Amino acid sequence: MTVTLRDVHCNTMANPRPSIIRIFHFVHIFMLILGSGIPYSLENEFVGNYSNSFLSHVPRLLSSKTTVLDLSLNNITGLQIKDFKSLPKLRVLKLSHNEIQYLDISVFKFNQNLEYLDLSHNKLWKISCHPLMNLTYLDLSFNEFEALPICEEFANMSQLDFLGLSATRIQKSDLLPICHLNLSHILLDLQRFHEKKEKLESLPVLSTKILQIIFPPNRAFSVQLDMSVNNVRELGLTNINLDDDKCSIFIDFLSKVMNNLRFLNLTLHNVEITWKCFVGILQFLWHKPLEYLFIYNLTLVEKINEEPFIYYETSLKGLKIELLTNKVYLFLQTYLYQIFSEMNIKMLTMSDTALLYMLCPSKPSPFQYLDFTNNLFTDNIFQGCRNLSLLQTLILQKNKLKHLSNIVHMTETMMSLKHLDLSQNSISYNADNSNCHWAESLLVLNLSSNELTDSVFRCLPPSITVLDLHRNKIRSIPKEMSSLETLQELNIAFNSLSDLPGCDTFSSLSRLVIRYNSVSRPSAHFFNSCQNIKSLHAGDNPFLCTCELREFSKNMATLSKRVVSGWPSSYKCAFPDSYKGTQLKDFHLSPLSCNLVLLIITISITGLVLMIVTIFLCIHFDLPWYLRMIFQWTQTRRRTRNISIDKLERTFQFHAFISYSELDSGWVKYELLPKLEDEDIRICLHERNFVPGKSIVENIINCIEKSHKSIFILSPNFIQSEWCHYELYFAHHKLFHEGSDNLILILLEPISQYTIPAKYHKLKALMAQRTYLEWPTEKSKQVLFWANIRAAFNMKLALVEEDNDTEIR
Ligand SMILES: *[C@@H]1O[C@H](CO)[C@@H](O)[C@H](O)[C@H]1NC(C)=O
Repeated sequence: MTVTLRDVHCNTMANPRPSIIRIFHFVHIFMLILGSGIPYSLENEFVGNYSNSFLSHVPRLLSSKTTVLDLSLNNITGLQIKDFKSLPKLRVLKLSHNEIQYLDISVFKFNQNLEYLDLSHNKLWKISCHPLMNLTYLDLSFNEFEALPICEEFANMSQLDFLGLSATRIQKSDLLPICHLNLSHILLDLQRFHEKKEKLESLPVLSTKILQIIFPPNRAFSVQLDMSVNNVRELGLTNINLDDDKCSIFIDFLSKVMNNLRFLNLTLHNVEITWKCFVGILQFLWHKPLEYLFIYNLTLVEKINEEPFIYYETSLKGLKIELLTNKVYLFLQTYLYQIFSEMNIKMLTMSDTALLYMLCPSKPSPFQYLDFTNNLFTDNIFQGCRNLSLLQTLILQKNKLKHLSNIVHMTETMMSLKHLDLSQNSISYNADNSNCHWAESLLVLNLSSNELTDSVFRCLPPSITVLDLHRNKIRSIPKEMSSLETLQELNIAFNSLSDLPGCDTFSSLSRLVIRYNSVSRPSAHFFNSCQNIKSLHAGDNPFLCTCELREFSKNMATLSKRVVSGWPSSYKCAFPDSYKGTQLKDFHLSPLSCNLVLLIITISITGLVLMIVTIFLCIHFDLPWYLRMIFQWTQTRRRTRNISIDKLERTFQFHAFISYSELDSGWVKYELLPKLEDEDIRICLHERNFVPGKSIVENIINCIEKSHKSIFILSPNFIQSEWCHYELYFAHHKLFHEGSDNLILILLEPISQYTIPAKYHKLKALMAQRTYLEWPTEKSKQVLFWANIRAAFNMKLALVEEDNDTEIR
C-alpha cells in the first residue's frame, strides 16, 4: 500500500468539512498510522506508531527502515538532529499535539525523503529554516507564532501542496516567499489574531485551490484583512460571530477575498449571527460567483424580523444548512421560512434545524432537491402545493409524519418527483382511506423505520423501482395486492415476514433484502419464480432446520457468492435445539430420513430380506430345531440346579432308566448307552438289571423307582410296543406323584400325532407339549443333542450302593 500524501492534507481539527473522499483517505491513513502500538510493516511502509504513549522525547533505537512515524499526542518538548538522523527513509512524521516550542527544520537535514510533516497543535513560537525539497505537506497551524512562520527557504519548496500556518498578525512581507507557489490547500489559523489599529495593508495574492481560515472563537468578528486569492475553489471560514454592527466588516472581508474568484464553494462553520446579518450575507452572496454554500452549526440570535430579499439571477445552485440553533423564541415563523421557500436555487438542504414547517413557494420553484432531514415537519407539509413541479428528490427523513395517505396526497402535484425519503417517521397506513394516487414519476421510495403494516402493499406507487420498507411491522405480503412490475430493489429487513416473497407480483425483482424477519421455513417458490435475482440477503432469520430446509440451503449454496450476501455466516439454524447455531451450510440430513417413500421402500426391502434369510436359515440349517434344543438345554440346566442333591442321593441307585422298543435297541446299545456311560451315568435297563423271581412289571417298576430319571426312546416302534406304554405310564405316574419333572423323551424317528392310538392319551399329551429331544440324523447337529442329554444329568450324584437283590450283569 502506498500512502500518497496528497490525500492527507485535511488533517486538522478545525477543518471538519473536506470532501467525503478526502475524509475517507484521512481516516484510512489515520488507521494505518494509529493501528497499533508497535512498529509494523505494510507493503512499502514501515510504520512506527507511538501516538498517545506519554513520551517526553523522541524514542531512541527506531528502526532505520521506518518510513512512517507517528509521535502525535505526547509530551515531546523539543527535537534534535540525533532523533531522526538514523531514519533516512522517513517520509511521514506526525508530531501534532505535543509541547514543542522551537523548531529548527535543520533537525531533518538527514531526512531528505521527508514529505509529510505535521507539527500542528504544539506551542511553537519560533522557527529556523532549512530547505526540505521533498516536503509536500507542512502543518504549522494551531501554534503560538506571532508572525507567520514562513521562511525564505519555503520559496524553493516547489513540491509543497499543503501549508498550515498560524499567526497573531499578518504582514505583506511574511507572505512574499509563498505567493508564487501553486498550493492546493492553505490552512490559516488566526484564532489568536490581534486586530491592528494601523491602516489596512493589501496582502500579496496567494494561489491555492482550498483556503481555510480559522477566526478567533467566541469573539465578535473584527479581522480586517485585505487579502485576495487566486484559483480558490473552496473557501472555508470558521468561527464567525456577527451582530448587526459588525456585519459589514465580514461582508467587506468576503468581498475582498472573493474579488476575482469564479465558481466558488463557500463553507461557514460555527456561525453565530443575527437574522438581519444572516439575510444580509445571503443577499451579498446571492449575486456573487458562488455555486454552493454550506453553513454548519448556525446560531440565530437577538430577533427575527421580516427582511426583504431580492432573488433575481444567482449563480448559486445549492444551499445547505446543517445544525441550526435558534435562540430567538418569539417571532413570526413565516419570516424565517419565506426566505428559504422562495429561493431560486436547485438544491436546498436544511437538516437538524428544528424547523416546524416549510412554506409552499409562492410561484413555480426551481427546486429539484429538497432535504429536510431531522426537523419537526408534520403531515400538513406541502399539502396542495402546486409550485414544486420540478422537484425530483424530497427527503423528509426523521420528521413527525404520521399518515401515509396525507403524504400520498402531497406528492400528487409533484409531477417530477422521483425520489422520496420518508424514513424514520411514525407513518402508518389505514387501508380504509382509499386515497392512493402517488406521483406517477416516483421511482425510489424510502419508507424504512416507520409503523407500516401489511396494508402498505395496497398503497404503493405503481412504477416504483426501489422500495425500502425495512424496520416496519409487516407480517406478510398480501396476495391480492396489485403487482409492482418495475420493482427491482426491495428491502424488507427487520419486519416479521414468515416467508420469502415470490416474484409473481414483483416480476422485475433483482435485489431482495429480507434479513431479520421470521422466516423459518422458506419455500422453494422464491427460487422458482425469481429468475432475475442478482442479490439476496436473507440471513439472520430463525431457520427451522428440518428436511424442508435442505432445498433452501441447496439453492443458496448454488447461487454464487456475489448474489447471496452474508452466506454462510449469517444463515443459522434456530430450531430445533439440537441444531441451534449450526450454519445452514453445515446442516445435513440423510436423504433417507427426509423421503417418506424412500423410507417405506427401504423398510419393506429390509423386512423382506430378513424374512428370506430367516426362511432360508430355517430350511437349510433347521433353525427351529436348534432353537428348540437350546431352549430345552437351558430349561434343563435351570431345573437340575434347583434340585436338592442330598435328597436325591438318599433315594436313587441309578441316574436313569431307559425305556425303548426292542426294535430300537440297536441305537440304544451302540449310540446312547456308550455316550451316557462315558459320562459316568448309571443306567438301569430292565433286561440288564433284571431281578429274577419278580414279574416283568415288578422289575420295570423297580427299575423306574430306583432311577432318578426315565428316558423314553420314542419312535413308531415305541408306539407299537405295549410294554413301553406301561413303562411310560408308571414313569409318568411317578412323575406326578413326586412332582418333579424327570422324564426325558427322545424322539428317535418322527411320529405323526395320528398314529398314536387314542388310549395313549398321556403320550399324546407329552408329544403335544413338544418337550422331547429330537435325534438328528446329521452328524453336525448331534453335538447339540448330546449336550442337551448331558445337561439333563449335570449333577454329581453319589448314589446308594445297589441292594443285594440287584444283580449287575
Ligand atoms: C432509507 O433511509 C435509511 C435511513 O433512514 C437509509 O439507511 C437507507 O439506505 C435508505 N434506503 C435507500 C434505498 O436509500
